[in-house]
Amino acid sequence: MTKLDVLTALREKDDYVSGQELCERFQVSRTAVWKRIRQLQAEGYEIEAVPNRGYRISGCPDVIAAEEVGSRLKTKWMGRPVRYFEVIDSTNRYAKKAAEDGAPEGLLVIGDEQTAGRGRSGRHWTTPPGTAIAMTILLRPEIAADRIAMTTLVMGLAVTQAVRELYDIPAGIKWPNDVVIDGKKICGILTEMTTDMVSVSYIVVGVGINANMDAFPEELQSTAASLKMVLGHEVNRAELIAAVMQHFEYYYEQFLAAGDLSAVMERYNELLLNRGRKVRVLEPGHEYTGMAEGIDSMGELLVRREDGTLARVYAGEVSVRGVYGYV
Ligand code: BTN
Repeated sequence: MTKLDVLTALREKDDYVSGQELCERFQVSRTAVWKRIRQLQAEGYEIEAVPNRGYRISGCPDVIAAEEVGSRLKTKWMGRPVRYFEVIDSTNRYAKKAAEDGAPEGLLVIGDEQTAGRGRSGRHWTTPPGTAIAMTILLRPEIAADRIAMTTLVMGLAVTQAVRELYDIPAGIKWPNDVVIDGKKICGILTEMTTDMVSVSYIVVGVGINANMDAFPEELQSTAASLKMVLGHEVNRAELIAAVMQHFEYYYEQFLAAGDLSAVMERYNELLLNRGRKVRVLEPGHEYTGMAEGIDSMGELLVRREDGTLARVYAGEVSVRGVYGYV
């Protein structure tokens, strides 16, 4: 009977769970149950122990350790198993290594702090301890390499949806996959993959969420914010991770079944902040402006140029900026 077992059992019910029930379910003694409860209490869990009724969780620390996230997961396979590190260089780097070593699809790697977090375009991504979310999911889809970028859009959609539902705030997507609230980025996603000659062997989708930071360095202040800064209170990171996994599993399965984004693009386009706005498309050696109309089933951004022609912008080397600000 692990800590994960006990937390999962307590979370399954809103009511008290009797010691007897736990003993029978996990085939252990009452003393063993009590020891596990004491251990969780020492880690900051508030667990009420009431004679003749049993145990009930009434409060938990904001930790994102494996058992805390695992006991909240409502997915079939996404986010299972969870591997947690208090300090890690980069969850993406770790997930790629785990993939090479045969780790299963659905593996979720979580770091409380990253020392060498990676962002898009070779940039550094900062994950300070105790306040942010850095996580990477491992996937092994049987799809062609040109569909990989779509996975990133699916994750952007899942994070946006999770944040909107949990906190009732109008989060949206800046194409292709930044999650934005009030014009400021609260989440970035970095997808990496390896292919053998013909097909994709695995993909890692890394998600960095600014959860409970109080401030950002000067150079990021105009473009970045945390959920805490937006909401005015802290968020429970494990709860958010579990919600993202649930939405991601749902949308990702729709994506796989369709083979492209046709099943999810309507919701994506509703949440797309660039839609109906003027954008500047920066392609290597070439720049133009136009009106963003939404994505197509391949995840390309449709941009109506001033001369009336339609450009399809593929998420790759190009970047798209708002003409009036970040979005
Ligand atoms: C971006 O630049 O917008 C993407 C940032 C992605 C950061 C996440 S944090 C978890 C995962 N591990 C990494 O090293 N990077 C991603």
